[in-house]
Amino acid sequence: MHQRSWYTTKQNAGVVFKDNAVIVHGDEYTKDAWTNVTPTVLSKISRQLHLQDRNPIGIIRQLIEGHFHDFKGFNSFSPIVTTRQNFDDLLIPQDHPSRTKSDNYYFNESTVLRAHTSAHQLQGLASGYNKFLISGDVYRRDEIDSSHYPVFHQIEGFAYFEHENKQDTLAAIQADLDNASPIPENIQVIDDTVIHQGNPIQSCHDQQVVELVAAHLKHSINSMICHIFAGEPDLKVRWIEAYFPFTSPSYEVEIFYQGEWLEVLGCGVVQQTLMNRGGRDKAIGWAFGMGLERLAMVLFGIPDIRLFWSEDARFLEQFQPGQISKFKPFSKYPPCIKDISFWLPATGDWHDNNFCETVRGVAGDIVENVKVIDDFTHPKTNRRSLCYRIMYRSMDRNVTNDEINEIQEKVRAAVEQDFDVELREKK
Ligand code: DAH
Repeated sequence: MHQRSWYTTKQNAGVVFKDNAVIVHGDEYTKDAWTNVTPTVLSKISRQLHLQDRNPIGIIRQLIEGHFHDFKGFNSFSPIVTTRQNFDDLLIPQDHPSRTKSDNYYFNESTVLRAHTSAHQLQGLASGYNKFLISGDVYRRDEIDSSHYPVFHQIEGFAYFEHENKQDTLAAIQADLDNASPIPENIQVIDDTVIHQGNPIQSCHDQQVVELVAAHLKHSINSMICHIFAGEPDLKVRWIEAYFPFTSPSYEVEIFYQGEWLEVLGCGVVQQTLMNRGGRDKAIGWAFGMGLERLAMVLFGIPDIRLFWSEDARFLEQFQPGQISKFKPFSKYPPCIKDISFWLPATGDWHDNNFCETVRGVAGDIVENVKVIDDFTHPKTNRRSLCYRIMYRSMDRNVTNDEINEIQEKVRAAVEQDFDVELREKK
């Protein structure tokens, strides 16, 4: 991607873009064909919303840590990781779609902004704690709307049992379960998952042990959800089968809240290969990874994911450490809508994410939503034309049409430059 002048004028402490390298707090990453990190996305690294005790993201993180009070918390691992940590260590195959450039922010072929907190599982194992949590900011290239933002937060949970033989392992897990408080009456757990061929026990594992580990995992997650949604009159939690390269069997958990099923986390029994690589070949364990934004949005009634990043006192001063309270919206400012249409170049793939990245790079958080409103291929020339509708709206002030026109002009120029498209006239 070309360097544009308005990139370099952005306030971005500690980040320097050079022709051949990107420098973050003194660490230099040589650019290559994979490089696609942008100044906009790197400006988020320093925010660490999960560590702010008045930000809903930080409040939820603390609530979860409070529930898992005997887990060691790691909250400050750097979001800049190797592709080995983000993918290979987790047994993610070389050709897996989650590795693509259109989904991730690469510094170069071997360095990436972590796409999940799972990237630190081996570090957790190396720490020697047999129960730990890892929270942090994670980065994924995505489309733009009210619930997607290229940076969000996750918390990872990990527990393992390390004993000399099967009987001791079973006894330890059972003792833990016997000690745990029962699941309250107000929650209905829907779980018809069974362990079978399609979501199997690993061949190196003992069925009885895995069933008990899975029961421990399920109890731990169900009670965490009760803790987060304390006092909710009728809460439903649904367990469904899933697939992750780093667990088997694997599950996803959904919560029914205010009329909607929310997908909240992925989890499972950790692949033994991963345990072994972490130096725990005698142990068996479970792990989960959960996004914090979606939970915070429903619990605090926050309508737009950009609000978490607001530095407006009217947002920040509404929240108290350790407390869930409903967000009181400050007035919604009117949107300003602009369309952009263009002919694609004759060759090359087109990805919405790349387009959104360019728009966000120029316009920042003032973009609320980007969607394709027309996709047309000319019958004679076979050229493809796209029209995107960009909705601009600020969370905390009125925007003027003149100001947005100026931004839209920059967006047009950037789109033309980045993608070699032919702009069509303005409508
Ligand atoms: N890392 C996964 C994601 O971001 C979530 C996840 C699934 C984490 C299963 C885990 C796990 O620890 O066991 O989609």
